[in-house]
Amino acid sequence: MKRFDVYPLFNIEPVKGEGAYIYDQQGVKYLDFYSGHGVISIGHAHPYYVEMVSQQLSRLPFYSNSIINPLQDQLAKRLGEVSGLMDYQLFLVNSGAEANEAALKIAAGQTGRRKIISLERGFHGRTALAIAASDNPKYHTSMNDLSIIQRIPMNDFEAIEKVLNEEVAAVIIEGIQGVAGIYEPEQEYLKALSRLTKSTGTMLILDEVQSGYGRAGKFYAFEYSGIKPDLITMAKGMGNGFPIGGVAVAPHIAPPANILGSTFGGNHLACSAGIAVVDVIKKESLVENSAKIGSYLINQLREIEQVKEIRGKGLMIGIEFDFPIIEIRNKLLMEHQVFTGNATQPNTIRLLPPLSIGEGEANQFIKALKHVLTAQNEAVYIS
Ligand SMILES: Cc1ncc(COP(=O)(O)O)c(C=O)c1O
Repeated sequence: MKRFDVYPLFNIEPVKGEGAYIYDQQGVKYLDFYSGHGVISIGHAHPYYVEMVSQQLSRLPFYSNSIINPLQDQLAKRLGEVSGLMDYQLFLVNSGAEANEAALKIAAGQTGRRKIISLERGFHGRTALAIAASDNPKYHTSMNDLSIIQRIPMNDFEAIEKVLNEEVAAVIIEGIQGVAGIYEPEQEYLKALSRLTKSTGTMLILDEVQSGYGRAGKFYAFEYSGIKPDLITMAKGMGNGFPIGGVAVAPHIAPPANILGSTFGGNHLACSAGIAVVDVIKKESLVENSAKIGSYLINQLREIEQVKEIRGKGLMIGIEFDFPIIEIRNKLLMEHQVFTGNATQPNTIRLLPPLSIGEGEANQFIKALKHVLTAQNEAVYIS
């Protein structure tokens, strides 16, 4: 059998990670400013995390959800503490798409309604309902164009008032739109969504799969607006590379019978990874670090002439230029050994470094970016 070849690949084979760096087979060191799509939160191979997961692996990596697993309760308790949402309930899954799928099901179960409102440019994952709610026609198949989904522009107050009514089960919105190219909902817009969904009995789902877990300088990006969503989905940073996702469910929602379940969701190994991550986030003040180093980076980026716009918060940053970034990104990787991300918006570089970086790593990135941009300018001048 051979690999089902669906991913475009860089010709790099990382074999080791440490903090904000990864190393390839030849021992070449790369600065990781993308964290493998925003997954590495506490840093590669954090010793406390390695120890916790290794111990659990040798003790009991898995048993099903039909037995008592105190690790799920420990994770829920610590997540509640670190996020300030002690009264929420935690349903555990294995990925971001699955978390959104579960949240939408909970909304359907809670309301008995069929309609979903999602946002233009939004991305919620690749499973059937999650991708149908996403505004990425390229990722859709013949089965994903569902009439129950209505997409509206973000930050358009009139649009939401026009479409929201008592037939809508859920409004789903990212804390900050990531895949699209780092676009933020206005705080007033989130407040309006919260107020309006309450008035129609609609569930407000905040997709914090990418923007959560300290990524945006608060534990969840929606915290900037002070709202309390009905359902919050999370995944990427939650396991620092171990597959785990979750839905935080508001206290007024009772667990539905039958419609939710997962063989692997909340398994012992995943929970040990999740607990280690939360412990490190708290102990090393990584949410605060994300806010602090994020501001530092944004200020440095503002000094760069060729940058057209900087978007984002904390360590979730979009840098937009007047031209497509494909060449800059390749040069950063191949000539300066710096991983960065792209976005649907072709002129935007997406930065999602580990939350543990310091000014040293930020300076290394800025230096590499300036170098690439200067070389590019000179090339244009010569030609
Ligand atoms: C906001 C958001 N939601 C959901 C997903 C899907 O997560 P996963 O790939 O873990 O299914 C992603 C992935 O990029 C995402 O950015």
